[in-house]
Amino acid sequence: MDKFVVRGGNPLVGTIRVSGAKNSALPCMAAAILTEDDVTLENVPQVQDIETERKLLASMGAEVELGYGRAQHRTTISCRTLSDPVAKYEIVKTMRASSLVLGPLIARCGMARVAMPGGCAIGGRPIDLHLKGLEKMGALITQEHGYLEARAERLHGAHIVFDKITVTGTEDLLMAAVLADGETIFENCAREPEVTDLATMLTGMGAKIEGAGTPTIRVQGVSRLHGVRHRINPDRIEAGTFLVAGAITGGDLIVSNCNPAHLGAILSKLQEAGARIDILNAETVRVRADGDLRATDISTQEYPGFPTDMQAQYMALATQSEGVSQVRENIFENRFMHVQELVRMGANIAVDGRTATVRGRTSLSAAAVMCSDLRASASLVLAALVADGESILDRVYHMDRGYERIEEKLRGVGAQIRRMGNVFASREEIVAVK
Ligand code: EPZ
Repeated sequence: MDKFVVRGGNPLVGTIRVSGAKNSALPCMAAAILTEDDVTLENVPQVQDIETERKLLASMGAEVELGYGRAQHRTTISCRTLSDPVAKYEIVKTMRASSLVLGPLIARCGMARVAMPGGCAIGGRPIDLHLKGLEKMGALITQEHGYLEARAERLHGAHIVFDKITVTGTEDLLMAAVLADGETIFENCAREPEVTDLATMLTGMGAKIEGAGTPTIRVQGVSRLHGVRHRINPDRIEAGTFLVAGAITGGDLIVSNCNPAHLGAILSKLQEAGARIDILNAETVRVRADGDLRATDISTQEYPGFPTDMQAQYMALATQSEGVSQVRENIFENRFMHVQELVRMGANIAVDGRTATVRGRTSLSAAAVMCSDLRASASLVLAALVADGESILDRVYHMDRGYERIEEKLRGVGAQIRRMGNVFASREEIVAVK
């Protein structure tokens, strides 16, 4: 398993480029199921979850070309023939977002078999709200042998009020509704930019959608959708992660190819903490910090509130901020996996239920730490960038799921970070390799 070796102490200076949003690309790739025509997506991030989605679509009979480099991170998907509308457990167990194919498969094929996604490190991750909405649109859903089986001659419009705000639930049902018979009204929808990005793509395919990005979305079902070429939004969480990296290292970092309009809560918190933020243009943000960061509280909320996907990264910043920061995680039940690892590096953090109390500023010392999930891994990289000495981060495959070549991007702005593949070396051996 690959490891990262990170030597702390360098302020990050220069320009770092953000990739396309994994959490936009995943539903948009699933939306290709809704048409027999070719769909081309641009600005697709080169991350493991995208490869997993490619495998999933190909396993159902789709033709998926996925190219990076010269092809500018582009994928062309043809679902002309979907010979096997089944999302197999072997794939679903590695990526629970596979459940995003459920709605489009029922809408396109009238049936779907999808392995029930297990939970993950951060929580149980149920999809009951997806199923409740599909049943209200006329799907008959049974569960057996770990699989969901859904059937519907043709889904029909309905009035669906989500019991809880769910991002992929909103996306899954939106994709089911665009080919349904009649009008569907969704209330209490997720407002994340990834939902809006998907709605933009679906509209480009001929769907009739109003209200994406607001709590109420209206869909007029159509009989078929055509192909589209669509550019994926920049990844707001990757952008936020880099902004925190610039602030925590006391650097001067320009984050390019991002969308500042999606970063409101993150930028506001960084300014409150004492970082200097300049929005240079519609795609670029500059962050500067001189090391005197102030403690601030965060409470994760659905968009446009402070994102749960930035909670772990912000906690790393809080360890370097003067004073007591309260970090409250309202979305997931177990999203403090990074705390113990940060404590092993010297952080002063106490957890009580869904609230972590961080006392800063504490100097961090390098350690061998373990990555546990995508954003916890990012938090450990940020801590290692300011820790005294050389840290070794194990199981970085968690990061590879959602961050494209992060070690190369960070090295490009002065970080001392490198990937050690397939080594079972001890800390001493790795240091000797230097
Ligand atoms: C999406 O997950 C993102 N994943 C997550 O990003 C993100 O953390 C999350 O939204 C919240 O913003 C993708 O978009 C692929 P939810 P999702 O449904 O849709 C409960 C990352 O780091 N819930 O909005 O699965 C659920 O348990 C990942 O990139 C139900 O109870 O999250 C949670 O407590 C991690 N029943 C809350 O709602 C349901 O049917 C929000 O979950 C669905 C959700």
